[in-house]
Amino acid sequence: MGKRYLLAPGPTPVPSEVLLAMAAPIIHHRSPDFLPVLDEAAKGLQWIFQTKNDVLILCSTGTGGMVGAVNNFFSRGEKVLVINGGKFGERWTEICQSYGLAPREIMVEWGYPVDPETVEDALSKDKDIKGVFVQASETSTGVYHDIAALASIVKKYDDTLFIVDAISALVAHDLRTDEWGVDIMVGGSQKGVMLPPGLAFVSVSEKAWAKAEKSDLPKFYFNFKKERKSLAKNQTSFTSPVTLIIGLNESLKILQAEGLQNVFKRHELLAQATRKAVQAIGLELYTKKSPSNAVTAIVAPAGIDGQEIYKNLRTTYGITAAGGQGKARGKIFRIAHLGYADRFDVITAVAGIEMVLKGMGHPVQLGTGVAVAQELLIA
Ligand SMILES: Cc1ncc(COP(=O)(O)O)c(C=O)c1O
Repeated sequence: MGKRYLLAPGPTPVPSEVLLAMAAPIIHHRSPDFLPVLDEAAKGLQWIFQTKNDVLILCSTGTGGMVGAVNNFFSRGEKVLVINGGKFGERWTEICQSYGLAPREIMVEWGYPVDPETVEDALSKDKDIKGVFVQASETSTGVYHDIAALASIVKKYDDTLFIVDAISALVAHDLRTDEWGVDIMVGGSQKGVMLPPGLAFVSVSEKAWAKAEKSDLPKFYFNFKKERKSLAKNQTSFTSPVTLIIGLNESLKILQAEGLQNVFKRHELLAQATRKAVQAIGLELYTKKSPSNAVTAIVAPAGIDGQEIYKNLRTTYGITAAGGQGKARGKIFRIAHLGYADRFDVITAVAGIEMVLKGMGHPVQLGTGVAVAQELLIA
């Protein structure tokens, strides 16, 4: 028997209620049956995003939402600032470059959050910067960037938008879109909202909509003004991914029953227990400051390849975690506690790590990390 445990930072496990809801027969996206379904989803997303702004629903992965956050609001040659502290920060730069923007990067050492003062400094010295791009949770390094602090800086600049990739942070962190003044926030389905891959969500502020009027970049599929008009009629511009949206409403019910603050607390507790448990085994955290509640990045012990730990977890014990990305490949492995995750996911992960490391000849006292996690997670 090969029982599988999905503990990756996306895709994440999908609750059976959601899977069952998605097994219902297909309904037509322009029929009266579907309009209330989309209405419910749109309102639920506003609740998760903590915003009164429209939250667009796109049929794409999260990266599609990131692309739309660039090509709908900016113009060729426009200067923007990208906070690049990992693989997904790099992606903002690549998208901006591919649309002919002029991104300037603040390079952040992997494993650390950006110092908000460097953003303040860059903006005060160059008034031509029209956008600041960042990740909330940089999944490749396990870092949470201080979105509240960054928003309060960017807010001072009337012509500059603040754009947050919250793809892995959504529901794992308390992200107050309206209160803090985030102009564009991007989410994805296969992470905290407990759905299969295939949906991107993007909230857009009035400040951003005003700037969209001046954008000269090509847009067809990801045309946000068109999507906004469709959303007002409880539709999407093209064929709606009806199955995923029906699933989203079921996920929303689960999250609403738990309560948003409790959802954040759960993620925080699971993340904390994971970190303390792996440190008790003698492992070092890759994230040196401001760890994400979504994923824990762990340094592989000297002489052991991080990819081998990841592979062994999967092939020997059926646990799908994640390896390292980019320059962290081989050096780290990552454990997620995101979405449909609870205390026994953490205990499974920690037990698996102990067993894999012992199997690879690393000195581990079995149960050390598990006991620490149990103490922190006991009801
Ligand atoms: C922070 C972050 N940004 C962007 C992405 C890309 O999302 P997708 O693979 O859904 O396009 C991911 C997915 O891993 C992510 O974690």
